[in-house]
Amino acid sequence: SRPITIAPSILAADFSKLGQEVREVTEAGADWIHLDVMDGHFVPNISYGPDVIKSLRKHCDLIFDCHLMIAPCDPYVEAFAKAGCDIITVHAEAGPHLHRSLQAIKALGKKAGVSLNPATPEDVIEYVLDELDLILIMSVNPGFGGQKFIPAVLEKARRIKQMIGDRPIDLEIDGGVTAETAPAAAAAGINVLVAGSAVFKGGTPQAYATNITTIRNA
Ligand code: DX5
Ligand code: ZN
Repeated sequence: SRPITIAPSILAADFSKLGQEVREVTEAGADWIHLDVMDGHFVPNISYGPDVIKSLRKHCDLIFDCHLMIAPCDPYVEAFAKAGCDIITVHAEAGPHLHRSLQAIKALGKKAGVSLNPATPEDVIEYVLDELDLILIMSVNPGFGGQKFIPAVLEKARRIKQMIGDRPIDLEIDGGVTAETAPAAAAAGINVLVAGSAVFKGGTPQAYATNITTIRNA
């Protein structure tokens, strides 16, 4: 199986010094950087857009894992590709043409992901599996960091792991991931753990290193 990848979500970082925060979590052992884009429409919160991501690109060489919580998404995919995102993930619930969105991402030379809200069943991805590089299972309702992990999504993770078979698709979980919830996620087939508050708590480079190591060792 694939090695565990830890992707800190900078939603939990100090936005007044994002460049420094990204450098510090990189130094602390992060594998990817998870970028949460929220539009105040698809989700009830607003975060940041492609220009912020573009400025962070100069501070970090890790994979930029962009989670678009926006609707519509198609008009903005190119801007996120140009900003330096390596993986662009759209929500299955964000529009009626998931296959077209995934094709648009791949046509830009980027890896394509789909995300499912906690209430969304796995069958919506059955006919796009061959277009996917990543599947992101939401373990909270998207919009905010610091929420409690919803254990019911672990059954969905197991089912999706079966559907993936031997395709080269990363299976990622996002929301409420801590050293306490990570082991069950990994056991269900997850190989990419997104963590916001559990990585950035403490607010110092030493804390970030301890937090990332604690999650990885769990
Ligand atoms: C929620 C975001 C998550 C969030 C995770 O809408 O997609 O990436 O920042 O934060 P924690 O780890 O604090 O639940
Ligand atoms: Zn996210």
